[in-house]
Amino acid sequence: MQVQWFPGHMAKARREVEQNLKLVDFVIELLDARAPLSSENPMLHQIVQNKDKMIVLMKRDLADPKMTAAWLTYYKERNIPAVAVDANNRDDIKQVVQLAKQLGKKKIDQLVAKGMKPRPHRAMILGIPNVGKSTLINRLASRKAAKTGDRPGITKQQLWIKIKKDFELLDTPGILWPKFEDQIVGYRLASIGTIKDQVISLQDITVFVIEFLQRKYPDLLFDRYEIEADLDDMLEVFERIGKKRGALESGGEVDFDKVSEIVLRDLRSGRLGKISLEAPADLLGAE
Ligand code: G4P
Repeated sequence: MQVQWFPGHMAKARREVEQNLKLVDFVIELLDARAPLSSENPMLHQIVQNKDKMIVLMKRDLADPKMTAAWLTYYKERNIPAVAVDANNRDDIKQVVQLAKQLGKKKIDQLVAKGMKPRPHRAMILGIPNVGKSTLINRLASRKAAKTGDRPGITKQQLWIKIKKDFELLDTPGILWPKFEDQIVGYRLASIGTIKDQVISLQDITVFVIEFLQRKYPDLLFDRYEIEADLDDMLEVFERIGKKRGALESGGEVDFDKVSEIVLRDLRSGRLGKISLEAPADLLGAE
């Protein structure tokens, strides 16, 4: 379900998250491994304030492993606990639990040191829509039924999911908005399918993707479509992909929307290869 983030929705989402924050010891921030910068909520830091945080880079199965490793090093150097996850990999899910237990234990030890009784540590998952929140909750809870709550403002009864005897997770994830101000963020999120297609035109997103692949992953682009890195005539790029893949209108003309759908489907499903749109170097360069 597509969320329309009007200022009122943002305020409401923020209030809900702030309410729930009072109930937890730390937060688990979900980012997309292919674009950890763009999939961040711009205000998370401010909203979460002094709560401990760990990061889960979701969809690592679709991301470039070298980039994912670089991101994990980047977080490690900054003392931010982080793990990369493919939701279908059980060992990855175990790693999330392990890291969460370590983080939670620290909090509980502090309570005990103050003379309070030990209790399970509690966490909540936070992230922008489509980053994989419900999937991760379901995997952690070892259940199949998807419980989605992509509607800010819809309050549900809070439930705790017991993950381990000493670790509980809030059933409902906190849903926050992505960064909209920056156009490149919009393009990156649209490319990986986090922002749905109607926001930016399909063909524009596809041009963005092809130009990106020509710069960063020329071999993958060539392997799939036989498009060279220096072919900058986009009309020809679309026509060649269209003819190769049979994306034609009834008169035999290339159907540009169909070509766009093919390229985006190939990218989002991983058929084009393991591709990341953002590297820590992008951020460091900007610092
Ligand atoms: P949300 O609650 O944060 O909004 O996200 P949700 O869990 O609904 O996940 C959004 C999409 O991302 C889903 O695909 C889900 O299957 C997919 N996903 C989540 N984690 C991973 C992962 O680690 N790897 C990969 N490859 N995909 C992941 P969908 O197409 O919207 O739904 P479905 O067809 O899979 O049911």
